Amino acid sequence: MSVTDPQPPAPDAGADAAQEALRDRIAADSLTTRRDYLRIVATVSGGLAVGGVAVASGILHRHGDADGTPEVKKIADRILPGESLAFRYPGDEDRAIAVRMEDGTLAGYSAVCTHLACAVLWRKDRGSEGELYCPCHEGVFDARTGEVTAGPPPRGLPKVILIEQIDGSVWAIGTARSGESLQEGYCRQRGAGTPPCEALRAGTPATRPGPERSERA
Ligand code: FES
Repeated sequence: MSVTDPQPPAPDAGADAAQEALRDRIAADSLTTRRDYLRIVATVSGGLAVGGVAVASGILHRHGDADGTPEVKKIADRILPGESLAFRYPGDEDRAIAVRMEDGTLAGYSAVCTHLACAVLWRKDRGSEGELYCPCHEGVFDARTGEVTAGPPPRGLPKVILIEQIDGSVWAIGTARSGESLQEGYCRQRGAGTPPCEALRAGTPATRPGPERSERA
């Protein structure tokens, strides 16, 4: 699938109610006690979301640095292996990208290159399993970690923390800065004592990103 922005959902009272219910569950820190409903399958960080000049001038903020707690946001009904999806998170102006590896691993990142803020693209045809690629100066990021593998970017991509509901829908629930783990990002934003934070810290099967998700794919 090409990188495209998701279409805005049509008004749907049932969907609204489901989204509100999901928010309530997460707000109540019940994520890990609802493992039958939600599985955290991937990670992404939130870090530098704009170019250095813009950041220095205070015009834009960095992924992971936003005040407050990012909203919980549905980004797709499902993302199939080999697909990517462009979306906006945590703010409406913050470009982000989710990718599903062929083995089922799901990961999300800021789509703003940490070099000079060009758009980062998913290139399935590059590398052994695809790469996140910035065409401006040949910057390359590892799709599994967001770390720089080639080119001038000074740091890895910030991550967007993604979870996948049992129906296959994908939700963004937070961000992590460049160099910050998903656990660190989530715990910083949602609170160190929350059950999801503790589960992420422990790396339980319900929260560990990885190919076990492929059982459904
Ligand atoms: Fe991405 Fe230069 S802006 S490599």
